[in-house]
Amino acid sequence: MASEKRLEVVTCTAPVNIAVIKYWGKRDEELILPINSSLSVTLHQDQLKTTTTAAISRDFTEDRIWLNGREEDVGQPRLQACLREIRRLARKRRSDGHEEPLPLSLSYKVHVASVNNFPTAAGLASSAAGYACLAYALARVYGVESDLSEVARRGSGSACRSLYGGFVEWQMGERADGKDSIARQVAPESHWPELRVLILVVSTEKKPTGSTAGMQTSVETSALLRFRAEALVPARMAEMTHCVRERDFQAFGQLTMKDSNQFHATCMDTFPPISYLNDTSRRIIQLAHCFNAHHGQTKVAYTFDAGANAVIFTLDDTVAEFVAAVRHSFPPELNGDKFLKGLPVEPVPLSDELKAALGTDPTPGGIKYIIATQVGPGPQVLDDPGAHLLGPDGLPKAAA
Ligand code: DP6
Repeated sequence: MASEKRLEVVTCTAPVNIAVIKYWGKRDEELILPINSSLSVTLHQDQLKTTTTAAISRDFTEDRIWLNGREEDVGQPRLQACLREIRRLARKRRSDGHEEPLPLSLSYKVHVASVNNFPTAAGLASSAAGYACLAYALARVYGVESDLSEVARRGSGSACRSLYGGFVEWQMGERADGKDSIARQVAPESHWPELRVLILVVSTEKKPTGSTAGMQTSVETSALLRFRAEALVPARMAEMTHCVRERDFQAFGQLTMKDSNQFHATCMDTFPPISYLNDTSRRIIQLAHCFNAHHGQTKVAYTFDAGANAVIFTLDDTVAEFVAAVRHSFPPELNGDKFLKGLPVEPVPLSDELKAALGTDPTPGGIKYIIATQVGPGPQVLDDPGAHLLGPDGLPKAAA
């Protein structure tokens, strides 16, 4: 008889996603069901990703989790919801008559370790990549093959969109039990190879209101949000899907900007109002519109989530000139050579006409740095055992 392995261990990675039609507001707080559908672009994991190792063993006495090297409370309700849900799916699979996929019992406790390859301090949303990665790793280790939207969604709504690469919609669904509130790929990452993404990390001192609390207040107080969700988003979802399918950057960019602006308008309509944008964010908005006006077409599009950082969409032929425009308007204060991270961007001179169009009011240090990236694939399993974040004893390996 084959001897049973003491430890079953899996390591996965998952991407960050940026919504171009925003999710804001829940109709069910417990199940995390949204008041409208949303659509996002999955960013490439070469620049931004979460890596998660999940291990199960009969030797473990309790579930435990380490995030970026620190042990965290495994009892937090959203984490518990994910664990409960994956174990329910694993049990269901077994009772549906599938072969036992793993020799270890699903009653075994799990150890989880997770790290991001980007600084949490940058204020970039990490919960979507984090919970998508958790759902994916747990599914592998417990032998679950069904749709993972619900598992990821119970961690953070936007996380279900990080389960796929390319362009992804989260269909709000209608059912009270949330079974039809699922993520689906609209187009794969290979669909629009020219599309580029620039994350402008904006200097901020204060921590913004979290999205969970913010959207709850918006649902309670903003009539504009209700109108947006009911009357505007359905047509916007159809339009955005069309723009993506047709690779129509002009229309894609305009709708992306309008939807970001409308989301922030609903935040301002929330009572008391919430403002996520700061002066630098507003200057970036102006810069993008000046840049587009100068070119007589939509060459760049911005979008902002629950914070001051801007995400810019553009095409590969425009990246270098727009980065030069950003450097001109926001001269780097420190580390000029470290201002640009991620994909390489050729330095190019700015024309005097464009300089004039951008105005003469540079804001030194307003942008800390730029991460240049592109559309990328969904979660991956890492086969190399060296990638595991947990050692043979099921505890985090000492940081290298
Ligand atoms: C502004 O998914 O972080 O980024 O479901 O409460 O965890 P919870 O909220 P979360 O909200 C994301 C809001 C957003 C827009 C978006 O990603 O669609």
